Amino acid sequence: MKVSVIGTGYVGLVSGTCFAEIGHDVTCIDIDPKKIQILEDGKSPIYEPGLEELLQRNIKSNRLKFSTSYDSVKTAKSIFLAVGTPSSDDGSANLNYLKDAALCVAKEMSDGAIIVIKSTVPVGTCEMIRDLVSKNTDKKFHIVNNPEFLKEGTAVDDFMRPDRVVIGHSDQFAADAMSELYAPLVRQGNPIYMMSNLSAEMTKYAANCFLATKISFINEIAKLCDLAGADINEVREGIGSDRRIGSHFLYPGPGYGGSCFPKDVKALMYTAKENGMTLKVVEATEEVNEEQKKRMFEKIMSYYGDVKGKTFTFWGVAFKANTDDIRETSAITMAKELVAAGAKVNYYDPEASDNFEKLMSSLEGMSEGTKRFDNKYDALTNSDGLVTMTEWREFTSPDFEEIKTRLNKAVIFDSRNLYKTEKVLESGFDYFAIGKRI
Ligand code: UGA
Repeated sequence: MKVSVIGTGYVGLVSGTCFAEIGHDVTCIDIDPKKIQILEDGKSPIYEPGLEELLQRNIKSNRLKFSTSYDSVKTAKSIFLAVGTPSSDDGSANLNYLKDAALCVAKEMSDGAIIVIKSTVPVGTCEMIRDLVSKNTDKKFHIVNNPEFLKEGTAVDDFMRPDRVVIGHSDQFAADAMSELYAPLVRQGNPIYMMSNLSAEMTKYAANCFLATKISFINEIAKLCDLAGADINEVREGIGSDRRIGSHFLYPGPGYGGSCFPKDVKALMYTAKENGMTLKVVEATEEVNEEQKKRMFEKIMSYYGDVKGKTFTFWGVAFKANTDDIRETSAITMAKELVAAGAKVNYYDPEASDNFEKLMSSLEGMSEGTKRFDNKYDALTNSDGLVTMTEWREFTSPDFEEIKTRLNKAVIFDSRNLYKTEKVLESGFDYFAIGKRI
């Protein structure tokens, strides 16, 4: 099938590349000529395991093209809109990029085209886009909502092996075309769910908010474990083995970040308000998460009393492992708190240091308060404590003797519960984690 994808962010780029990989004829469009040039050269502008290899293979076989022009839309059967829908100041999703893209598509598409909204959009957006496009063209077209459930770091695999594909539509032609498009990815037990556009839009937000709630729940229970003397790892295993609860997404940490959960939680709360209700559980999820981002700072403060003149070393600044993405990462909150309290922050991350350094240099006082290192042990020299922020594999079995030699004081603040308590204590460290019995 001839497919155009508008927007080469995470979702657009991964979807476009994977559609090409399963045999479709894909053109990815972006307004940024620099990005298009990088992509045409077979390089990925984002760090995503496995993506570059697929890019190169499909460019070579001529199934995947990149362009700043909307020309390919003229002959495309399906046109995916995968542009950003960032948070506005009031928490609502900003749909300006989506509207702009839809207007460009309206000008170029041919009669009978299917416009597929892949961006995460509030309930009712498909109908709004239908109205907008209708007012700007006489051509007939179809509107589909096809939310994406891929995770950064495992995006290619998530796309190629989806738990399910969700399709919102309002006519059989569009439903059949989407079934044809996704046929190679839909297997027994991993179905394609057809539903209304409204339900598909809601499904995406409900999924992300539920997952965010799971994380805030476990983080809150971890806090209670700290106070009551229980151990969150034991509790997590104890509850996760109940299939109704499930063992995934139950890891306590420094609070969820990224480009999706924080924004989608806010957007769903806003949709609820628009509909005259308050989503109490989701509001609590956000509140707990904001507190959680500072949990380790509180532990550092109660250990040292005063951190003026001290230096702390972050291992990891990405919002999770296997990505260079630092959007809404708890490392930002932690760094700001420490610098405001008079401390300095050294940091090392295998992939996200460039992005973090750029961000720090744009924030008042943070450029002087933070220092980048390109080796995890060098970052510890003359530092008053190691703080793990991201669960990169290279941090999980470090040389504890080396850490002790480098630090001024042997203390580890483990926001990701990476280490075995006995091992760290035996190695002579003071140790603080999230909800673990020490
Ligand atoms: C999330 C969803 O998981 C995807 O299904 C969805 O498609 C995507 O948003 C999106 O809407 O585009 P992503 O933001 O890439 O994916 O990252 P996650 O793996 O979900 O992690 C989000 C945050 O939760 C991270 O900060 C992570 O460290 C944290 N987390 C995750 C925990 O603290 N504990 C866990 O057990 C799991």
